[in-house]
Amino acid sequence: MSGAPAGGAPEDPLRPDRLPFDRRFTPSGAYAQLRSAAEANPEEFWAAVSRRELFWSRPFTTTLGGTPPEYRWFEGGELNAAVNCVERHLAGSSAHRVAYYWEGEDGARRTLSYADLGREVRTLASSLAEQGFGPEDRAALYLPMVPELPVAMLALAYLGIPFTVVFSGFASEALAHRIQDLGARLLFTADGGYRRGRVVPLKEIADRAVAQCPRVDTVVVVRRTHLEVPTSSVRERDWGELLARHAPRVPAREVSSEHPLFLLYSSGTTGLPKGIIHGTGGYLTQVAATTRWVFDPGPNDVLWCAADIGWVTGHSYIVFGPLALGATSVLYEGALDHPSPHRFYEILERYGVTELYTSPTALRSLRRHGDEPARSHRLGRLRLLGSVGEPINPSVWEWYFRVIGQGRCPIVDTWWQTETGGILVSPAPSLDGRPLKPGSATLPLPGIDVAVFREDGRPAAVGERGFAVVRRPWPGMLLGLWDDPERYRSAYWGRFPGVYYTGDYAVQDSDGYLWFLGRADEVLKVAGHRLGTAEIESALLQHPAVAEAAVCSEPDPVKGSRPFAVVVLKPGIEAGPGLAEELASGVGERVGKFARPERVLFVAMLPRTRSGKIMRRVVQAVVLQGDSVGDVSTLEDEASVEEVRQGVARLAAELAAARSSRSS
Ligand code: WT7
Repeated sequence: MSGAPAGGAPEDPLRPDRLPFDRRFTPSGAYAQLRSAAEANPEEFWAAVSRRELFWSRPFTTTLGGTPPEYRWFEGGELNAAVNCVERHLAGSSAHRVAYYWEGEDGARRTLSYADLGREVRTLASSLAEQGFGPEDRAALYLPMVPELPVAMLALAYLGIPFTVVFSGFASEALAHRIQDLGARLLFTADGGYRRGRVVPLKEIADRAVAQCPRVDTVVVVRRTHLEVPTSSVRERDWGELLARHAPRVPAREVSSEHPLFLLYSSGTTGLPKGIIHGTGGYLTQVAATTRWVFDPGPNDVLWCAADIGWVTGHSYIVFGPLALGATSVLYEGALDHPSPHRFYEILERYGVTELYTSPTALRSLRRHGDEPARSHRLGRLRLLGSVGEPINPSVWEWYFRVIGQGRCPIVDTWWQTETGGILVSPAPSLDGRPLKPGSATLPLPGIDVAVFREDGRPAAVGERGFAVVRRPWPGMLLGLWDDPERYRSAYWGRFPGVYYTGDYAVQDSDGYLWFLGRADEVLKVAGHRLGTAEIESALLQHPAVAEAAVCSEPDPVKGSRPFAVVVLKPGIEAGPGLAEELASGVGERVGKFARPERVLFVAMLPRTRSGKIMRRVVQAVVLQGDSVGDVSTLEDEASVEEVRQGVARLAAELAAARSSRSS
């Protein structure tokens, strides 16, 4: 990978050819100070950061404890996340600051101050306590992007109840898996949600899931669409009714630092999604500190993280990070370009957004509508732009910089993962003026030690592609995987002993800048959403006609990549477009529409190792490169190269035939 991709408009102050790339970049300013303090004594550094950012009702006694890799941050300390995110802002004038400007897809609007948020959180928490819910319970939330979602998350945190938010695009089977795995007793949902002008029948989907989840005994329903919905088979509570109750007020539950705040189910390399556990003290330290370093929201800033709270980005940069700092955010319910591409720019203008944080997929789809929508709105208050979730193509970076940022706003390309809790690698314009390079997340934040390793665990050379790893524990790291300590150890700490394995490919350039190149494992990124090939394959295998399935990805101009399924049918079953459509819809119904493979191709056989494992990497190489075998040197299988070559040649011919018959 060469240094800097081609430049932008002539007036760009950050135009790569104006930047001092011929000299090695030396970190400076506050960044250099923080980084060297962290290097000198990482634990002391994070302890000071945590004390500065959070309110601890009982101070911690050990900064970093636990037994590697089960690290435990801030042991002995007690705190409450809702106190940190809401209650402590209620004294004095900050109570009147806006926490959220909410806008519905249908144009509905609501403004919630910190005082409003505090009132709702306390009332809901008191009602839930009155119904007998407490820290031994677990909850699931299946809600659209409405203010009730952060209110419910905070009310659960107030009571010390760990929860999982399930993205409202997931189907009932995927929802049921998460509820069951977590053993949730309580589910929050809504009568429906708006998505591109249509109503998603969330309550109906939730009821189907609840029917498979005997542990659930209470469903709380938010009225959003006012659709008539049938009553659940279990006790049902109306959100409005819970908030109108005068239940005896309960105090916030102070929990130990390592008490789980939430879990997020995320796709790994095998099997069904696993529950990634985030604790309270470490996680909040990470998100508060990184919100400050990367976005540094001041009293006049309005932050819009245009992500869905159903994924980690929304947890960390719509809910916990900004609220911990008492910042003001925009919360938008719908698709960014619905009802028209103007909606996105109207929101920026209407709320005077100063900091925008979104994904390359969203930017690619906005760019398709051209520059005119951006030009016809006043975007002068914007001062910082962020990108997250996938590598950003340099041309999209340039467009973001020139058209949305009008050549004035630095872009923070932030690299992190559900597992890391918060941003680990990113520019931090409030800390230094480091030159930006389109496509690079630049340098690790203070206290973070990211490196690029070769296969054998030695550091890769400058410019050499390798695996991104984190060499030192950080406060926002996952506590583990729900109910599966073995998998936690093997998935993250097994590849390079003592070092956290990210699953990403990366390259470091001569300035020490990191370029993240995408997943090295069997995890797909579709429109920035994380999906496991195993998850889609298991949905395909549930169809009675399917004998074998390998899911790969192919490039997509907007979504970055899209799933592509290669299927072997059971003997005697006839392939055809009708069946392909049925299989694709089956994935939509089991996992969610966003997981639907756009193409299903039928082949007679898939290349396998002698031990019978499908060689997905080989299938992927054939899908991407036609008949080339790809890199067989690193295949971990025992099949001979010759066998692989023959399998590939057959597969390539079959795929070519299937493609041409489809296009004719
Ligand atoms: C994967 C994690 C980050 C929170 C939302 C996604 C990819 C993330 C970047 C970036 C290149 C990126 C990685 C990572 N990724 N940010 N700035 N540049 N790739 O969290 O769903 O857990 O996905 O997203 O591949 O491993 P996630």
